[in-house]
Amino acid sequence: TIVSSSASGLTFLVILTSTSRLMCYYNSKAQNRPNVGKFSVSDIDPDKCTHLIFAFSDIIENQLVPTTVNDVQQYFKFNALKQRNPLLKTLLAVGGEKFGTEKFKTMAGSQENRQLFIQSVIKLLRAFNFDGLDVDWRYPAEEDKQRFTELCKLETAFVDEGTSSNQERLILAASVSAEKSTIDASYEVEEIAMHLDFINVLTFDFHGPWENVTAHHSPLFQGSQDTGDAIYSNTASALEYWRDQGAPEEKLNMGLGAFGRAFSLSSNSSAVGAPASGPGEEGCYTGEDGFWASYETCLYLDGVQNHLISDQKVPYATTENQWVGFDDTTSISTKINYLKANKFGGAFVWSLDLDDFRGEFCNQGKCPFVSQLHNLLVPGKSITKICAFL
Ligand SMILES: *[C@@H]1O[C@H](CO)[C@@H](O)[C@H](O)[C@H]1NC(C)=O
Ligand SMILES: *[C@@H]1O[C@H](CO)[C@@H](O)[C@H](O)[C@H]1NC(C)=O
Repeated sequence: TIVSSSASGLTFLVILTSTSRLMCYYNSKAQNRPNVGKFSVSDIDPDKCTHLIFAFSDIIENQLVPTTVNDVQQYFKFNALKQRNPLLKTLLAVGGEKFGTEKFKTMAGSQENRQLFIQSVIKLLRAFNFDGLDVDWRYPAEEDKQRFTELCKLETAFVDEGTSSNQERLILAASVSAEKSTIDASYEVEEIAMHLDFINVLTFDFHGPWENVTAHHSPLFQGSQDTGDAIYSNTASALEYWRDQGAPEEKLNMGLGAFGRAFSLSSNSSAVGAPASGPGEEGCYTGEDGFWASYETCLYLDGVQNHLISDQKVPYATTENQWVGFDDTTSISTKINYLKANKFGGAFVWSLDLDDFRGEFCNQGKCPFVSQLHNLLVPGKSITKICAFL
Protein backbone atom coordinates (compact mmCIF):
# COMPACT_ATOMS: atom_id res chain seq x y z
CA THR A 1 0.00 0.00 0.00
CA ILE A 2 1.33 3.42 -0.82
CA VAL A 3 -0.24 6.37 0.89
CA SER A 4 0.88 9.87 0.10
CA SER A 5 -0.30 12.97 1.80
CA SER A 6 0.65 16.56 1.76
CA ALA A 7 0.65 18.82 4.77
CA SER A 8 2.20 22.24 5.34
CA GLY A 9 4.41 22.07 2.27
CA LEU A 10 5.84 18.65 3.08
CA THR A 11 4.91 15.54 1.16
CA PHE A 12 5.18 12.29 3.01
CA LEU A 13 5.33 9.05 1.19
CA VAL A 14 4.52 6.17 3.46
CA ILE A 15 5.16 2.67 2.19
CA LEU A 16 3.29 0.02 4.08
CA THR A 17 4.21 -3.61 3.77
CA SER A 18 1.34 -5.85 2.84
CA THR A 19 0.47 -7.37 6.18
CA SER A 20 -1.94 -10.24 6.54
CA ARG A 21 -4.70 -10.39 9.06
CA LEU A 22 -4.50 -12.38 12.25
CA MET A 23 -7.87 -12.35 13.97
CA CYS A 24 -7.91 -13.78 17.48
CA TYR A 25 -10.94 -14.85 19.43
CA TYR A 26 -11.15 -14.11 23.12
CA ASN A 27 -13.48 -16.56 24.90
CA SER A 28 -14.97 -14.64 27.83
CA LYS A 29 -15.88 -17.92 29.57
CA ALA A 30 -12.16 -18.60 30.07
CA GLN A 31 -12.12 -16.24 33.03
CA ASN A 32 -14.04 -18.88 35.00
CA ARG A 33 -11.39 -21.61 34.57
CA PRO A 34 -9.48 -22.86 37.61
CA ASN A 35 -6.00 -21.79 38.67
CA VAL A 36 -3.53 -21.08 35.89
CA GLY A 37 -6.22 -21.83 33.28
CA LYS A 38 -8.00 -18.59 34.19
CA PHE A 39 -7.71 -16.08 31.35
CA SER A 40 -9.24 -12.63 31.29
CA VAL A 41 -8.96 -9.49 29.18
CA SER A 42 -5.93 -8.34 31.18
CA ASP A 43 -4.04 -11.42 29.93
CA ILE A 44 -4.40 -10.34 26.28
CA ASP A 45 -1.26 -9.06 24.56
CA PRO A 46 -2.61 -6.28 22.28
CA ASP A 47 0.33 -6.53 19.87
CA LYS A 48 -0.06 -10.13 18.69
CA CYS A 49 -3.19 -9.92 16.56
CA THR A 50 -4.45 -7.40 14.02
CA HIS A 51 -8.05 -8.00 15.13
CA LEU A 52 -9.48 -9.23 18.41
CA ILE A 53 -12.92 -10.84 18.54
CA PHE A 54 -14.86 -10.87 21.81
CA ALA A 55 -16.86 -14.11 22.08
CA PHE A 56 -19.83 -14.15 22.56
CA SER A 57 -22.72 -11.75 22.84
CA ASP A 58 -26.40 -12.71 22.88
CA ILE A 59 -29.65 -11.85 21.12
CA ILE A 60 -32.72 -11.06 23.20
CA GLU A 61 -35.96 -9.96 21.55
CA ASN A 62 -34.10 -9.56 18.28
CA GLN A 63 -31.58 -7.17 19.77
CA LEU A 64 -27.86 -7.58 20.37
CA VAL A 65 -27.05 -7.67 24.10
CA PRO A 66 -24.13 -8.65 26.36
CA THR A 67 -24.34 -12.26 27.56
CA THR A 68 -23.77 -11.34 31.21
CA VAL A 69 -23.82 -8.11 33.19
CA ASN A 70 -20.11 -8.62 33.85
CA ASP A 71 -19.38 -8.53 30.10
CA VAL A 72 -20.00 -4.80 30.06
CA GLN A 73 -16.95 -4.15 32.24
CA GLN A 74 -14.94 -6.45 30.02
CA TYR A 75 -16.05 -4.61 26.87
CA PHE A 76 -14.47 -1.43 28.27
CA LYS A 77 -11.19 -3.18 29.13
CA PHE A 78 -11.16 -5.03 25.82
CA ASN A 79 -11.50 -1.89 23.73
CA ALA A 80 -9.03 -0.01 25.96
CA LEU A 81 -6.40 -2.41 24.54
CA LYS A 82 -6.48 -0.17 21.44
CA GLN A 83 -4.75 2.55 23.45
CA ARG A 84 -1.72 0.26 23.64
CA ASN A 85 -1.92 -0.69 19.94
CA PRO A 86 -3.59 1.99 17.82
CA LEU A 87 -3.67 -0.30 14.76
CA LEU A 88 -5.69 -2.95 16.60
CA LYS A 89 -9.32 -3.50 15.55
CA THR A 90 -11.95 -5.14 17.74
CA LEU A 91 -15.05 -7.08 16.86
CA LEU A 92 -17.91 -8.38 18.95
CA ALA A 93 -19.03 -11.89 18.04
CA VAL A 94 -22.63 -13.00 18.39
CA GLY A 95 -23.75 -16.62 18.61
CA GLY A 96 -21.23 -19.45 18.85
CA GLU A 97 -21.16 -23.19 19.04
CA LYS A 98 -23.58 -23.61 21.94
CA PHE A 99 -25.92 -20.79 20.93
CA GLY A 100 -28.29 -22.75 18.74
CA THR A 101 -30.05 -21.30 15.71
CA GLU A 102 -33.52 -20.25 16.89
CA LYS A 103 -32.65 -16.69 17.82
CA PHE A 104 -30.87 -16.15 14.51
CA LYS A 105 -33.79 -17.67 12.58
CA THR A 106 -36.29 -15.38 14.24
CA MET A 107 -34.15 -12.26 14.04
CA ALA A 108 -33.19 -12.74 10.40
CA GLY A 109 -36.69 -13.92 9.46
CA SER A 110 -38.34 -10.55 8.90
CA GLN A 111 -37.37 -7.10 7.72
CA GLU A 112 -38.74 -5.61 10.92
CA ASN A 113 -36.69 -7.89 13.18
CA ARG A 114 -33.54 -7.33 11.16
CA GLN A 115 -33.98 -3.56 11.39
CA LEU A 116 -34.37 -3.80 15.14
CA PHE A 117 -31.27 -5.98 15.32
CA ILE A 118 -29.04 -3.75 13.21
CA GLN A 119 -30.03 -0.64 15.14
CA SER A 120 -29.14 -2.42 18.40
CA VAL A 121 -25.85 -3.62 16.87
CA ILE A 122 -24.77 -0.12 15.84
CA LYS A 123 -25.76 1.28 19.22
CA LEU A 124 -23.91 -1.39 21.22
CA LEU A 125 -20.77 -1.39 19.06
CA ARG A 126 -20.45 2.40 19.09
CA ALA A 127 -21.21 2.68 22.81
CA PHE A 128 -18.26 0.46 23.67
CA ASN A 129 -15.95 1.45 20.81
CA PHE A 130 -15.97 -1.88 18.96
CA ASP A 131 -14.97 -1.69 15.29
CA GLY A 132 -17.30 -4.37 14.00
CA LEU A 133 -19.50 -7.42 14.36
CA ASP A 134 -18.69 -11.09 13.77
CA VAL A 135 -21.73 -13.26 13.04
CA ASP A 136 -21.27 -16.76 14.49
CA TRP A 137 -24.47 -18.43 13.32
CA ARG A 138 -23.56 -22.11 13.52
CA TYR A 139 -25.05 -23.01 11.17
CA PRO A 140 -27.85 -21.74 8.98
CA ALA A 141 -29.99 -24.68 7.79
CA GLU A 142 -30.97 -25.04 4.16
CA GLU A 143 -34.23 -23.21 4.81
CA ASP A 144 -32.25 -20.32 6.36
CA LYS A 145 -30.14 -19.69 3.29
CA GLN A 146 -31.98 -16.49 2.29
CA ARG A 147 -32.21 -15.35 5.90
CA PHE A 148 -28.44 -15.54 6.20
CA THR A 149 -28.00 -13.53 3.00
CA GLU A 150 -30.48 -10.91 4.23
CA LEU A 151 -28.53 -10.67 7.46
CA CYS A 152 -25.29 -10.04 5.53
CA LYS A 153 -27.00 -7.27 3.58
CA LEU A 154 -27.18 -5.33 6.83
CA GLU A 155 -23.71 -4.21 5.82
CA THR A 156 -25.45 -1.42 3.91
CA ALA A 157 -26.72 -0.07 7.23
CA PHE A 158 -23.09 0.06 8.40
CA VAL A 159 -22.20 2.05 5.28
CA ASP A 160 -25.01 4.54 5.88
CA GLU A 161 -24.16 4.90 9.55
CA GLY A 162 -20.48 5.44 8.79
CA THR A 163 -21.32 8.18 6.31
CA SER A 164 -23.86 9.96 8.47
CA SER A 165 -21.79 9.80 11.65
CA ASN A 166 -18.58 10.62 9.76
CA GLN A 167 -16.79 7.70 11.41
CA GLU A 168 -14.94 4.76 9.95
CA ARG A 169 -17.52 2.23 8.77
CA LEU A 170 -18.15 -0.71 11.09
CA ILE A 171 -16.71 -4.05 9.94
CA LEU A 172 -19.00 -6.99 9.18
CA ALA A 173 -17.48 -10.47 9.40
CA ALA A 174 -18.95 -13.96 9.64
CA SER A 175 -17.55 -17.26 10.85
CA VAL A 176 -18.83 -19.95 8.54
CA SER A 177 -18.86 -23.70 8.03
CA ALA A 178 -15.97 -25.49 6.31
CA GLU A 179 -18.05 -28.58 5.49
CA LYS A 180 -18.84 -28.86 1.79
CA SER A 181 -22.36 -30.18 2.39
CA THR A 182 -23.18 -27.23 4.66
CA ILE A 183 -21.62 -24.71 2.26
CA ASP A 184 -23.75 -26.12 -0.55
CA ALA A 185 -26.92 -26.16 1.52
CA SER A 186 -26.66 -22.99 3.58
CA TYR A 187 -24.81 -20.15 1.89
CA GLU A 188 -25.23 -18.04 -1.22
CA VAL A 189 -21.49 -17.64 -1.34
CA GLU A 190 -21.09 -14.99 -4.04
CA GLU A 191 -23.89 -12.89 -2.63
CA ILE A 192 -22.78 -12.93 1.00
CA ALA A 193 -19.14 -12.39 0.03
CA MET A 194 -20.10 -9.05 -1.53
CA HIS A 195 -21.37 -7.83 1.82
CA LEU A 196 -18.93 -9.36 4.27
CA ASP A 197 -15.53 -7.76 4.92
CA PHE A 198 -14.04 -11.01 6.22
CA ILE A 199 -15.10 -14.63 6.06
CA ASN A 200 -13.67 -16.81 8.80
CA VAL A 201 -13.81 -20.39 7.56
CA LEU A 202 -13.99 -22.71 10.56
CA THR A 203 -11.35 -25.13 9.28
CA PHE A 204 -11.11 -27.22 12.40
CA ASP A 205 -13.30 -29.86 14.10
CA PHE A 206 -13.63 -31.71 10.78
CA HIS A 207 -13.23 -34.86 12.86
CA GLY A 208 -13.40 -35.67 16.53
CA PRO A 209 -14.19 -38.24 19.18
CA TRP A 210 -17.86 -38.14 18.21
CA GLU A 211 -16.64 -40.48 15.45
CA ASN A 212 -15.53 -44.08 16.06
CA VAL A 213 -12.08 -44.00 14.48
CA THR A 214 -9.14 -41.67 15.06
CA ALA A 215 -8.65 -38.75 12.68
CA HIS A 216 -7.05 -35.33 12.88
CA HIS A 217 -9.56 -32.56 13.55
CA SER A 218 -7.82 -29.98 11.35
CA PRO A 219 -5.77 -31.58 8.56
CA LEU A 220 -4.32 -29.30 5.90
CA PHE A 221 -4.86 -31.73 3.03
CA GLN A 222 -6.90 -34.80 2.13
CA GLY A 223 -5.72 -38.06 3.70
CA SER A 224 -5.01 -41.23 1.74
CA GLN A 225 -7.75 -43.03 3.69
CA ASP A 226 -10.42 -40.41 2.99
CA THR A 227 -13.26 -41.62 0.81
CA GLY A 228 -16.63 -40.19 -0.15
CA ASP A 229 -17.34 -36.71 1.18
CA ALA A 230 -14.45 -37.05 3.65
CA ILE A 231 -12.14 -35.97 0.82
CA TYR A 232 -13.45 -32.41 1.36
CA SER A 233 -12.92 -32.45 5.14
CA ASN A 234 -9.66 -30.55 5.26
CA THR A 235 -8.47 -26.95 5.46
CA ALA A 236 -7.24 -26.59 1.87
CA SER A 237 -10.37 -28.07 0.29
CA ALA A 238 -12.62 -25.85 2.38
CA LEU A 239 -10.81 -22.59 1.58
CA GLU A 240 -10.54 -23.47 -2.09
CA TYR A 241 -14.21 -24.41 -2.21
CA TRP A 242 -15.26 -21.07 -0.72
CA ARG A 243 -13.00 -19.32 -3.25
CA ASP A 244 -14.26 -21.38 -6.20
CA GLN A 245 -17.88 -20.69 -5.24
CA GLY A 246 -17.19 -16.97 -5.59
CA ALA A 247 -15.66 -15.60 -2.37
CA PRO A 248 -12.59 -13.42 -3.11
CA GLU A 249 -9.51 -15.04 -1.61
CA GLU A 250 -8.43 -11.83 0.12
CA LYS A 251 -11.60 -11.93 2.25
CA LEU A 252 -11.08 -15.53 3.36
CA ASN A 253 -9.40 -16.33 6.67
CA MET A 254 -8.06 -19.78 7.50
CA GLY A 255 -9.14 -21.09 10.91
CA LEU A 256 -6.61 -22.52 13.34
CA GLY A 257 -7.62 -24.17 16.59
CA ALA A 258 -5.16 -23.78 19.45
CA PHE A 259 -6.29 -27.14 20.80
CA GLY A 260 -6.19 -30.87 20.16
CA ARG A 261 -9.03 -33.39 19.87
CA ALA A 262 -8.33 -36.56 21.82
CA PHE A 263 -9.80 -40.06 21.42
CA SER A 264 -9.68 -43.12 23.68
CA LEU A 265 -8.23 -46.01 21.70
CA SER A 266 -10.10 -49.29 21.91
CA SER A 267 -7.45 -51.61 20.46
CA ASN A 268 -3.69 -51.91 20.15
CA SER A 269 -3.75 -49.93 16.96
CA SER A 270 -2.82 -46.26 17.24
CA ALA A 271 -2.65 -45.29 13.58
CA VAL A 272 -4.90 -42.78 11.82
CA GLY A 273 -8.20 -44.61 11.44
CA ALA A 274 -7.69 -46.82 14.53
CA PRO A 275 -10.86 -47.83 16.40
CA ALA A 276 -11.82 -45.43 19.19
CA SER A 277 -14.30 -45.91 22.00
CA GLY A 278 -15.10 -42.24 22.55
CA PRO A 279 -13.51 -39.00 23.67
CA GLY A 280 -10.20 -38.88 25.46
CA GLU A 281 -9.77 -37.56 28.97
CA GLU A 282 -10.88 -34.05 29.80
CA GLY A 283 -8.36 -31.22 29.93
CA CYS A 284 -7.77 -30.53 33.61
CA TYR A 285 -8.21 -26.76 33.17
CA THR A 286 -10.68 -26.55 30.30
CA GLY A 287 -12.80 -29.50 31.53
CA GLU A 288 -14.31 -30.92 28.36
CA ASP A 289 -13.90 -34.60 27.40
CA GLY A 290 -11.47 -35.07 24.52
CA PHE A 291 -10.67 -31.35 24.21
CA TRP A 292 -7.14 -30.30 25.14
CA ALA A 293 -6.03 -26.67 25.07
CA SER A 294 -2.67 -26.34 23.38
CA TYR A 295 -1.04 -25.87 26.80
CA GLU A 296 -2.81 -29.00 28.10
CA THR A 297 -1.53 -30.89 25.06
CA CYS A 298 2.03 -29.83 26.02
CA LEU A 299 1.39 -30.93 29.59
CA TYR A 300 0.07 -34.38 28.66
CA LEU A 301 2.56 -35.03 25.88
CA ASP A 302 5.70 -34.10 27.80
CA GLY A 303 8.40 -36.41 26.43
CA VAL A 304 6.05 -38.12 23.98
CA GLN A 305 7.04 -38.29 20.32
CA ASN A 306 4.88 -36.65 17.63
CA HIS A 307 4.02 -38.52 14.45
CA LEU A 308 3.49 -36.59 11.24
CA ILE A 309 0.51 -37.63 9.13
CA SER A 310 2.53 -37.22 5.96
CA ASP A 311 -0.24 -36.59 3.43
CA GLN A 312 -2.27 -34.31 5.73
CA LYS A 313 0.77 -32.38 7.08
CA VAL A 314 -0.37 -32.38 10.71
CA PRO A 315 0.85 -34.30 13.76
CA TYR A 316 -0.72 -36.68 16.25
CA ALA A 317 0.64 -38.37 19.36
CA THR A 318 -0.42 -41.21 21.61
CA THR A 319 0.04 -41.55 25.32
CA GLU A 320 -1.34 -44.58 27.16
CA ASN A 321 -4.65 -45.21 25.37
CA GLN A 322 -5.10 -41.59 24.32
CA TRP A 323 -4.75 -40.44 20.69
CA VAL A 324 -4.60 -36.71 20.05
CA GLY A 325 -4.41 -34.68 16.83
CA PHE A 326 -3.20 -31.07 17.20
CA ASP A 327 -1.01 -28.42 15.53
CA ASP A 328 2.69 -27.95 16.28
CA THR A 329 5.21 -25.37 15.02
CA THR A 330 5.86 -27.38 11.85
CA SER A 331 2.21 -27.80 10.90
CA ILE A 332 1.48 -24.14 11.65
CA SER A 333 4.31 -23.10 9.27
CA THR A 334 3.08 -25.48 6.60
CA LYS A 335 -0.47 -24.13 6.88
CA ILE A 336 0.64 -20.50 6.69
CA ASN A 337 2.92 -21.22 3.72
CA TYR A 338 -0.06 -22.77 1.98
CA LEU A 339 -2.20 -19.73 2.90
CA LYS A 340 0.36 -17.30 1.44
CA ALA A 341 1.00 -19.36 -1.69
CA ASN A 342 -2.73 -19.25 -2.40
CA LYS A 343 -3.09 -15.57 -1.49
CA PHE A 344 -5.75 -16.07 1.16
CA GLY A 345 -6.26 -12.91 3.18
CA GLY A 346 -5.33 -14.11 6.63
CA ALA A 347 -5.95 -16.44 9.51
CA PHE A 348 -7.97 -16.52 12.67
CA VAL A 349 -7.43 -18.51 15.84
CA TRP A 350 -9.80 -20.01 18.38
CA SER A 351 -8.77 -18.88 20.96
CA LEU A 352 -6.23 -16.81 22.94
CA ASP A 353 -6.98 -18.53 26.26
CA LEU A 354 -6.02 -21.96 24.84
CA ASP A 355 -2.47 -20.91 24.03
CA ASP A 356 0.30 -21.37 26.62
CA PHE A 357 -0.27 -17.76 27.60
CA ARG A 358 1.90 -17.91 30.74
CA GLY A 359 4.64 -19.88 29.02
CA GLU A 360 4.52 -22.49 31.80
CA PHE A 361 3.73 -25.65 29.86
CA CYS A 362 5.32 -25.75 26.41
CA ASN A 363 8.83 -24.42 27.05
CA GLN A 364 8.46 -22.03 24.13
CA GLY A 365 7.88 -18.73 25.93
CA LYS A 366 4.58 -16.93 26.31
CA CYS A 367 1.79 -17.47 23.78
CA PRO A 368 3.83 -19.68 21.42
CA PHE A 369 0.90 -20.58 19.16
CA VAL A 370 -0.30 -17.03 18.52
CA SER A 371 3.26 -15.61 18.51
CA GLN A 372 4.26 -17.96 15.73
CA LEU A 373 1.20 -16.97 13.71
CA HIS A 374 2.00 -13.32 14.35
CA ASN A 375 5.60 -13.74 13.21
CA LEU A 376 4.54 -15.53 10.04
CA LEU A 377 1.63 -13.25 9.15
CA VAL A 378 2.34 -9.80 10.57
CA PRO A 379 6.07 -9.34 10.09
CA GLY A 380 7.92 -6.35 11.48
CA LYS A 381 6.46 -2.91 11.88
CA SER A 382 3.78 -2.17 9.34
CA ILE A 383 5.38 1.13 8.36
CA THR A 384 8.71 0.14 6.85
CA LYS A 385 9.81 3.39 5.34
CA ILE A 386 8.85 7.01 5.63
CA CYS A 387 10.37 9.33 3.07
CA ALA A 388 9.98 13.06 3.39
CA PHE A 389 10.43 15.32 0.40
CA LEU A 390 10.75 19.07 0.61
C1 LIG B 1 -2.00 -56.20 21.97
O1 LIG B 1 -0.68 -56.58 21.68
C2 LIG B 1 -0.19 -57.60 22.53
C3 LIG B 1 1.29 -57.88 22.24
O2 LIG B 1 1.65 -57.40 20.96
C4 LIG B 1 -1.03 -58.86 22.38
O3 LIG B 1 -0.56 -59.88 23.23
C5 LIG B 1 -2.47 -58.55 22.70
O4 LIG B 1 -3.29 -59.66 22.45
C6 LIG B 1 -2.96 -57.37 21.87
N1 LIG B 1 -4.28 -56.94 22.31
C7 LIG B 1 -5.27 -56.69 21.49
C8 LIG B 1 -6.54 -56.24 22.13
O5 LIG B 1 -5.18 -56.81 20.28
C1 LIG C 1 -17.73 -46.95 12.66
O1 LIG C 1 -19.04 -46.61 12.28
C2 LIG C 1 -19.34 -46.93 10.95
C3 LIG C 1 -20.70 -46.37 10.60
O2 LIG C 1 -21.47 -46.10 11.72
C4 LIG C 1 -19.23 -48.43 10.75
O3 LIG C 1 -19.53 -48.77 9.41
C5 LIG C 1 -17.83 -48.88 11.08
O4 LIG C 1 -17.71 -50.29 11.00
C6 LIG C 1 -17.44 -48.43 12.49
N1 LIG C 1 -16.02 -48.70 12.70
C7 LIG C 1 -15.53 -49.22 13.82
C8 LIG C 1 -14.06 -49.42 13.88
O5 LIG C 1 -16.23 -49.46 14.79
